[in-house]
Amino acid sequence: MRIGSGTLVERRAARGQRILVTGGTGFLGSHIAVALLRAGHRVTVLVRSSKKLPAQDRVARLADWFGLDEGVRRSLDVAEGDVLDPGWAEAALEGTAGPGPVDEIVHCASNTAFAERKRAEVEAVNIGGLRNVLDFAARSGCVFFHHVSTAFVAGKRTGLCREEWVESGKFTNVYEETKAGGEILARDVCRREGIRLNVYRPSIVYGDSRTGRTLRFNALYFPVKAAVFLRDIYLADIRERDGRKASELGIRMKENGYLFMPIRIEAGREGGINLVPIDHCVDVFMAILEDGLEGGVYHIVNSRPTRIEDLVDHAKRLFRLDGVETCGLEAFVAQPRNALETLYDAYLDAYRPYMQDLRTFEIKNAAPALEKRGLVCPEFDYAIFARCMNYAVETGWGARLFP
Ligand SMILES: NC(=O)c1ccc[n+]([C@@H]2O[C@H](COP(=O)([O-])OP(=O)(O)OC[C@H]3O[C@@H](n4cnc5c(N)ncnc54)[C@H](OP(=O)(O)O)[C@@H]3O)[C@@H](O)[C@H]2O)c1
Repeated sequence: MRIGSGTLVERRAARGQRILVTGGTGFLGSHIAVALLRAGHRVTVLVRSSKKLPAQDRVARLADWFGLDEGVRRSLDVAEGDVLDPGWAEAALEGTAGPGPVDEIVHCASNTAFAERKRAEVEAVNIGGLRNVLDFAARSGCVFFHHVSTAFVAGKRTGLCREEWVESGKFTNVYEETKAGGEILARDVCRREGIRLNVYRPSIVYGDSRTGRTLRFNALYFPVKAAVFLRDIYLADIRERDGRKASELGIRMKENGYLFMPIRIEAGREGGINLVPIDHCVDVFMAILEDGLEGGVYHIVNSRPTRIEDLVDHAKRLFRLDGVETCGLEAFVAQPRNALETLYDAYLDAYRPYMQDLRTFEIKNAAPALEKRGLVCPEFDYAIFARCMNYAVETGWGARLFP
């Protein structure tokens, strides 16, 4: 039975309830779990063991990465389980030291692959796994389900995307399609069971705008990493060999120490990439969790998308590159892609629909919580770019994330 908002606020204020976060080892899930812990909540994270590490050790390693102190760690329980297993929850939660039932669930576990060849796995987690978590919510007396979705449930469209349910649409990939279907599933089960539901829809999340730290190096990072990878190959060719391979592709060292690497990147005159740093994403999530007591759909987006030209300029400046330029599609008709451009283009394929985005996202529902706290999504300027990419390089694009 649905509890009143007053009771919910009181329960939360007493910090006596248990919040379950699925996807606790993930980028968003771990940051949200830490924010909840730091706000004084008791949190149980649902985590799988990996091939190399048991669930407990994976969480301990993350707790170190976040610099959690002992006091905060005492409010954190680890439940080992896989959302694909319908009986995951009881087995997982048995023996955890939480205060009893699960009062609220933040569902972050998801398969974020775009590739069609992964359709079965993506559907299994984003629909089947979600159904298992919702079934558990219904039988455990959970009063509030927080479903982390994506702004791209909007699918292939231009113009304003509203904070409303997406009943049907054309999707770019299986990820978008299953996230859209997942929202409707969550809505229907929560309505039927009288569970409050918030749906959070971030756009593209990158590292911390203040520190550059991150746990994932996909999306924004991928095209930059590919350019740095190519730069390093041809720098080595020039410095350590005769530079023939580089010169065949028109790549050369300039007198100012910049590597000239002629790559044209297709970019329309309008649109851009909608980027939200993880610190802002979590701040907005927490604000909505606190204020959005009646349930609803909330975009967590940047009202100032980054133009690809700006991203390219930032990358050229930081990585001392020259010759990388954006241009319209007509340029490739006049002069087809050379071998280097074809190679780079292949790296961009999966992300292209998000790089020239003409969509805008309504923030009517999220706005009051943002305004109340003065939360404004940072513009993705050079300083933030440099912080994030320096951290990426420092950690070998994630290979050396955990010392
Ligand atoms: N990152 C973004 O830019 C972004 C943007 C918009 C929306 N989102 C949404 O945010 C949510 C989290 O995404 P993310 O970027 O944090 O992804 P992520 O880093 O890949 O994390 C996914 C999490 O789900 C867990 N998981 C996957 N399959 C599972 C299973 N069968 N059972 C239990 N746990 C499972 C993973 O566990 P393992 O560690 O064991 O694999 C991991 O903890 C998703 O709903 C995504 O759609 C993300």
